Parts: sequence; C-alpha cells; structure tokens
Amino acid sequence: MPDGKGVEEGRGRVLLVSNRLPVSIAPNSEPIVVKPSPGGLATGLRSVHASGSSLWFGWPGVNTEPGEERERIARALPPSVVPVHFSADEMARFYDGIANGVIWPLFHYLLERVPGDIRDWSSYESANQRFADAVAKEARPDDLIWVQDYHLLLLPGLLRDRLPRARIGFFLHIPFPSSEVFRILPYREAVLQGLLGADLIGFHTFNDQRHFSAALLSVLGFDSELDRVEVEGRSVRLHVFPMGIDAASFAARALEPDVIAASDKLRASHGAGKLVLGIDRLDYTKGLTRKFLAIERLLERSPKYRDNLRLLQVAVPSRENVSAYRELKREIEEIAGRINGAYATLHSAPIHYVYDSVDQTELVASYRAADVMLVTPLRDGMNLVAKEYVASRVDGDGVLILSEFAGAASELAEALVVNPYDVAAIAGSLERALEMDEPERRRRMRRLREKVEARPVELWANSFISTLRLEPTSLGPSDLRRRPEQVAALADELATQPELVFALDYDGTLVPIQSTPDAAAPDEELCALLAGLAEAPNVRVAVVSGRTVESLERFLGRLPLALVAEHGVWTRTWGGKWTRNIEDVTAHAWRAPVLAMLDDYCARTPGSSVEQKTVGLAWHYRNAERQLGATRARELRLNLVQILARQPATVLGGRKVVEVRPQEADKGGALKRLLGDAPAREVIVAMGDDRSDEELFRAAGGSPYTFAASSLPTHAHYRIDGPPAVRDLLARFLAKRRGHEPPSISAEQREGALT
Ligand code: UDP
Ligand code: G6P
Repeated sequence: MPDGKGVEEGRGRVLLVSNRLPVSIAPNSEPIVVKPSPGGLATGLRSVHASGSSLWFGWPGVNTEPGEERERIARALPPSVVPVHFSADEMARFYDGIANGVIWPLFHYLLERVPGDIRDWSSYESANQRFADAVAKEARPDDLIWVQDYHLLLLPGLLRDRLPRARIGFFLHIPFPSSEVFRILPYREAVLQGLLGADLIGFHTFNDQRHFSAALLSVLGFDSELDRVEVEGRSVRLHVFPMGIDAASFAARALEPDVIAASDKLRASHGAGKLVLGIDRLDYTKGLTRKFLAIERLLERSPKYRDNLRLLQVAVPSRENVSAYRELKREIEEIAGRINGAYATLHSAPIHYVYDSVDQTELVASYRAADVMLVTPLRDGMNLVAKEYVASRVDGDGVLILSEFAGAASELAEALVVNPYDVAAIAGSLERALEMDEPERRRRMRRLREKVEARPVELWANSFISTLRLEPTSLGPSDLRRRPEQVAALADELATQPELVFALDYDGTLVPIQSTPDAAAPDEELCALLAGLAEAPNVRVAVVSGRTVESLERFLGRLPLALVAEHGVWTRTWGGKWTRNIEDVTAHAWRAPVLAMLDDYCARTPGSSVEQKTVGLAWHYRNAERQLGATRARELRLNLVQILARQPATVLGGRKVVEVRPQEADKGGALKRLLGDAPAREVIVAMGDDRSDEELFRAAGGSPYTFAASSLPTHAHYRIDGPPAVRDLLARFLAKRRGHEPPSISAEQREGALT
C-alpha cells in the first residue's frame, strides 16, 4: 500500500487529487521512462508535494487496459503517487471529449469551440467515480483531501457521499466563467452540486469567485454570502488564493553557470536584434494566432524592426488527440510560415517557432535572454509563465507584456497590460516595450519581482490547507431526505407518544412556497389531514405563521386548530378567540421610516412587493429577477439594521422575503403562550422551513422531534424534504394512531421525488 512521505504525527496527510500526476510515463517507453508533467497545475503543486506528508492521485499519462501493465506502471512510479488508470477509450471520452472538448473551451469563453452536440457526459461521471473509488479506498479519518481542477468537478460531491466527515477542498486552476456563459453547460446543476460537496472552494481571482456565486444563484437559487454559502447545514467557504511560483528557485537557477552559458548562446544565435519570447502550451486559449499577427502588424508598420526583431515561440505539445489542438497547430505553423516568407532576410526570420517542450535549463535561459516576454492568452486561470519570467530576471531588466484576461494581470499591474483580442494594441505594446528606456524597465521589473517574491507557491498551498483545516465541518441534523423508510419509522415512533402538540409552520412546510401569498391556499388533502390530526385523541395542533390574521382565518379558520399570526403578534387558542399580544401599531415609531424604505426598494426592484401586516412589514422579492432580488435584499437588510439600531424591532431574512417585526413577536414565545402550563408529558413536534422557525425549535424544550424542511443551517434534529414529505409523515402518524395500516412507500418516494 502506498504511503505519504514524512507524515506528521497526528496531523493527517494531504491527499492531492488531480487528473494528471506530477509525473507522466512516456508513451511506448521500454524500460518505462518517467518525466515531469507539463502545465501550471503540476509545476505549482509539485513543490507542495515534495515537502512531504502527501499522497497524489492521478492519471499516469498513458492509457492501459486492466492487467499487468498497470501493475508495472504502479511499480515504476514513486511511492507517494497513486495512479488512477484509464483505457484509451475512457480517456478519449472523458479527457478529450468532455473535460477538454467541452468544459475547457466553455470556461475560457470560447463558445465557438464547444461542440454542437454535447454527448457522453456519463464518461465524465464515471471518471470522477473512478477517482472517488481510489481516494475513498486510501483515505484515513484525519486526512485532508484536496481536489484540483476542471476534470474533477463532481468529485467533491461523490467523496462527500462516501466520506461524510472528511475535510474536502477544491481548487479551480482555470477561470470560472460569467454565470451567463456557465449556464450554457447542460450539466450545470450537477457541476455546482458536485463542487458544493467541498468545505472550501478556491479560485485564482475574485472575479472567478464572484462568477461562481452568481452561478449558484442563477442556476440553483442559492444565495451566498461574500465568502461562504450554506448548503444543507454545512458552510462551504469560497476564497481567493492566487497561485504563486517558487520564485527563489527560479532566481537561483538563473544564476547558475549552465543557465548563464545557455542564455548567452541563445542570445548569440539570435543575432544582435531584440529577442521577444513566448512560452505556452500549444492551446487555442493562449492567443498564439493573434500574437503572430501582432508581430506581422509591427513589421508592416515599422520597417526598422524587420531585420532587428525575433519572436522565439516555444509551443509545448498538448492534448494532441483533440482535433481542435491539431488544427491550431496547422493554423499557426501556416501563419508563422507566411510571416517568415514575407519578412525573413538572409540573416534572420522574425518568428522562430519550436514545437517541443524545453527542460528547466533551457526554460530559465530563455527567460534570462529575452528582452520582452509576450504572454497574451485570450483567457487564462493564472499563467505561471509570466511570473516565472519575472522571477528569473535577476538582472532586474526585461519587459513583460501581459494579457488583461490572465488571472496574473490582477496582481501584476506593472506589466504592459494588453487586450489580447486587439492585434493592433499588442503590436503597440510590443513597440512600447522595445522602445522603453532602461530606468522605466528596471522600475517596473523591481515592483513585479517584489510581488512575485512575496507570494511563493508554498504560501498559496499553505493558506489553502490551513483555511481548510480551520473550517469546522458541521454534519447538521439527521437527514431524512430521500429516506422514506426512516420517515415512516419516525411516524410510527411518534404514534407511540401518549400526548402530542404539533407546532407547524405553514408556508414552505405544509404548502409549497407560491409566487404570491394568496396562491398558497390549503388544498382539500391538507384540510382533511389537519382536521384529522386535530381531532385525534391527545393530540393538539397549532399552525404558527408569519401570515396575517385575515389570511389564516380565511385558509384555516374553520378547523379546530390554534393559530399564531404575524410571528406571535396575534394568537388564537384552541377553540378560542384571537388575542392581540403586542400593543397598538401607533406605538411603533420605526414603522413609518421602514415602510418608506421598503416602498423605495419596491419601486427600484421590478416584481417585488410590500406587505403591511398589523404591526410587521415585509418586502417580498420572489417574483423579481433572481440576481437583482438577492443583491437588493442583502443591501436592504444592511440598511434596515442601521436604521433600526436602537429600535425594538428585528430584521428577518426569510425565503425570498425581508421582514421587520417588533422584537416582542417571535414564534417561540407565541408557542409558549399557547401552551401555558402544558402537562410535562405532552411532547412537542415542531416543523418549519426558515429562520423564524428556529425560535419554534428552541421553544420545543429539547424535544427530539424538530424538523427543518430546508437546507439552511438549523437547530432542528431532522432535515426533511418539503411539504409532501411533511404531509406524508403526518398522514402516517395519523393512520397509525387510528390503528390503520399506513400506506406502503411508493416508488416515487423511494426515488426521492417527494419534493
Ligand atoms: N513548462 C513546462 N514545459 C515546458 C515549458 C514550460 O512544463 O516545456 C511549464 C512552465 O514552466 C509553467 C507551466 O508549464 O510552469 C505552464 O503554466 P501556465 O500557468 O503558464 O499555463 P498552463 O500550461 O497551465 O495553461
Ligand atoms: C492547465 C490545467 C491543468 C493541466 C495543464 C496541462 O494548467 O489547468 O489541469 O494539467 O493545463 O494540461 P494536460 O491536459 O496536459 O494535463
């Protein structure tokens, strides 16, 4: 069994999981040759892995059928990596087809590269499942699991199902697109649900995090705070961790004699002119075509550079099985050929194109040698090459031109930041870089180097890991959702209690939330159920609501129930009359300014409305555009809290409603008032779906029968699917109590179609 090196006593290991291992087996090599893997993820995490106490799970770079070959590969790899194997067909469908054929272009905003007919999502699911199997097999209770990148978007959720108590982190190395682009993906819900299995989700930039939050809202309707979202009683934290590089090692390498010699040789071989460098994986996101066109544009308009400038472009082979990559190769080779055909002289050609990877010596030597580094991706999660160039410039000279659409641009403002879609602007920046005087070059490079040095890759990894370690994983209440057998067992258990009081919230608990409060009238089934319960011996039922007296009377007035209106401003005891528990509205000085504010929000937010209760006031935004409604609600809550700072009123955020009510009104107090000195053996069953029902759960006096019909954080003991499951539980209880056999569990209930 593989084991991590240098495991710290009692701290657990870090299980790194990425599609690609930090090392890859060279295809068809005999004996097996193991090489470092290309790309930013592998180079970035390699140093974290090297520091010990981690196991790295990933694909070893070659496809194999199950059998001896896989064992041979496992033996050739270092003990701290665990290969996750795939056949050629599986990889073609999962890696080439979905991960790189669909998710990669979509997340980089290159919609024209997304295939017309997206098929084979199941290959992505199975691959994620394969990773989940491998990790679950190895994971120990105190391990941290850190999942990487866009190949494994479903993995956090799959792991959460298998290892409910595990600490799981996820980092996205590529951009998270605007929610308008993200929602093009047919499997958008599955992707978001998968990611939400993590305790911490990290992004390179704040824009990525913001887009993710917007997608949660527009796709799943989940409203997130600035840095977290509450999901099923768990907090999922959202954070920005800009990835850095091992700057010290690049600087040290740049001073070594072999690198200096290689750099001098490179300079000499390119003549006396200016050397411009590009190093990119051969990928259509890297903007190579426009980079070449910008060289052409500059040579066209400034003949003085024609024999005096060379672009050394290293294009590292990548994803060669994906047709778009093969086409790109043809395209850029053709453009390079055309430009060289037009501008090459006896002594030089303007574009020196190398289709190969380079070793560390050649890499740092080229960084050292280049007057200008041209990094112009159309979109890039971070771009480490830009930072490596800066770190390697121990001489303090050199100019970086950087795309504004690379994550690195949000940190490296002293670069010449350029729009990579604008060929003329790239040519202009290149000219400016070539003409820049030495003091300005040095001033900019000094600031850039300070920034790159200040954020080493260890800081990135350590902040992620320590944030993940700090965050407590709340398991929350017992989950009855999609567990109809357990709901039935609880109903049976309740039926054995001698005396019971049911305290039931109405909207969202007994009836589904509707677009307007009036549309949520009780149906016949519900009326019969409540009447049956209320008439059962030794059972009392109270409906505890934020609704007005008028609407509760209209909906439920004829039933023998106790009723609580406006969160306790009004109560009606069993068979009794309505009592007002809170003094007259005119005593509430806060009401007029709050009403004015709500009216203002209503006017500015189409689809929202203000509800005036006898005392309380509510702003409903269920019918407003989701993003606008959520943003305004957040802002409104802040404003209300400010104007109510010294007032006896409480601001309550409910489901698509912001409510202000007098401090004395709360559902828990109302329940206690109703029960008076109820006999101690009367067991309370409390059911609700939003924050105001938490008061009810607390007032249930430690009863084990408190149920939340929502995914919000809760003090309830159980979490239950919405109104259909609540009704099912009540109906089963009633049947049992009456001595009837409860109905059998239907296939729909088993499949979780209750909500
Ligand atoms: N790199 C590499 N092989 C090469 C040239 C470069 O592995 O032949 C490294 C480079 O040093 C950098 C990484 O690949 O660390 C590229 O990361 P970047 O974030 O710039 O882009 P990505 O390839 O991840 O999209
Ligand atoms: C980018 C991705 C990585 C990937 C790398 C190389 O950096 O974010 O996840 O490993 O490119 O691509 P490859 O497909 O060869 O793994």
